[in-house]
Amino acid sequence: MGPRVIAPPQSGSGSSGQGAKGTRDAVDQASATGPRIWAFGGGKGGVGKSVISSNVAVRMALLGHRVVLVDGDLGGANLDTMLGCERPRRTLSHFFDRSVASLADVAVPTGVDRLTLVAGDGECLGSANPVHAQKLKLIRHLRALPCDFVMIDLGAGTNFNTLDLYLAADVGVVVTTGEPTSLQNCFAFIKTATMRHVEQCTGVQRREHDEGARRRVGSAGPEARAALQRATSLVVNRASPAEARRVANLMHDLAGRFLGGQVRLAASIADDVAVTRSIRQSQPLCVLEPTARAAMDIDALARELWHGPAVAPAGPASGVNEEIEHEGQRLHVQSEDLGAPQCAVRTQVFLADGSVVFTRRTPYVDAFFERLAVGPGDRVRFHHVAIIRALRSGRVESLRKTA
Ligand SMILES: Nc1ncnc2c1ncn2[C@@H]1O[C@H](COP(=O)(O)OP(=O)(O)OP(=O)(O)O)[C@@H](O)[C@H]1O
Ligand SMILES: [Mg+2]
Repeated sequence: MGPRVIAPPQSGSGSSGQGAKGTRDAVDQASATGPRIWAFGGGKGGVGKSVISSNVAVRMALLGHRVVLVDGDLGGANLDTMLGCERPRRTLSHFFDRSVASLADVAVPTGVDRLTLVAGDGECLGSANPVHAQKLKLIRHLRALPCDFVMIDLGAGTNFNTLDLYLAADVGVVVTTGEPTSLQNCFAFIKTATMRHVEQCTGVQRREHDEGARRRVGSAGPEARAALQRATSLVVNRASPAEARRVANLMHDLAGRFLGGQVRLAASIADDVAVTRSIRQSQPLCVLEPTARAAMDIDALARELWHGPAVAPAGPASGVNEEIEHEGQRLHVQSEDLGAPQCAVRTQVFLADGSVVFTRRTPYVDAFFERLAVGPGDRVRFHHVAIIRALRSGRVESLRKTA
């Protein structure tokens, strides 16, 4: 059988590039199946979870989606200040103490069309500790919110409420900076979340040391193991793309070695004084200065989370197909993004009879992409070109039939 023809990747940033129709389709799909939930967590305080989650929410709303931003920093809430809203009269506390019937009743408008806020209660410490039943009710109500996306801004640390909200999301985003203390806490968060997940799947209490963690993951049932295959989407804040890639490689390595899990770099966000200006003025960065470096990085992150491997709905993969002449043979070279859970790009070379004579698969976190500072939207093209160059320069030894 000949090679599958894959749609070429869209030009532009990230793996997106969809036009208005793509946006509408995604909105329709989200409405039909309930909202997609993205949770932003991370071990350390002050690394940028609130800045990033609130601005991703703003970007998604500006892209035409109905978004509810939830201040999940129970007991330390301040998103209303960041968004420049009046202090909402109703907050999550009213939901927990049953003053309102539904979570949707505490969602208040923000200054951004299509974006509403479920505020936390920064002063009422009681709300920091909902009991188990209240937490389950909150998760049920989040799933039923009449919107396309729910973004949860989580507090720092790894308490059970934070972890359970993180694990209830469709996409878990972990935010870190490149500082060693932040990296330590970042890995601690990934590890604790993984152990909590195993605990939820198996009902067995966690153990703290790493070897125990890996064994526990390995001995979880197939269903639990499949759930654990969800790659953590890592955002490295206040970092250059090269530094972010180094951090992601390190985390991927640690997660693979100690937990059997995967970490993929979703985006790097530049250290940008425009962020400070936006907080001082109580205006979201993506509204106040949409062309600032950090705002553009956040735009790329929103698109990556929307279309990237962690959330990509089953559909046509993006790829490149090309016919080339090589040593008197006509070859078909096909490159594609394998998406989750493989998190890799693959190039295959086919003979005219459809047989595969060469395959190269490169993980997103490979040094090849890091060295060339290749972003997610360009991986397939770079991989494709590199393989063809290698073929032409004789660096691919032989083209024997492998399948
Ligand atoms: N990309 C950036 N460039 C410059 N400054 C930034 C950037 N990201 C965050 N900051 C600064 O870091 C501060 C803390 O950010 P933020 O409140 O989002 O952290 P957090 O992780 O939510 O903290 P907490 O755990 O306390 O909730 C911001 O007030 C801002 O001044
Ligand atoms: Mg915060």
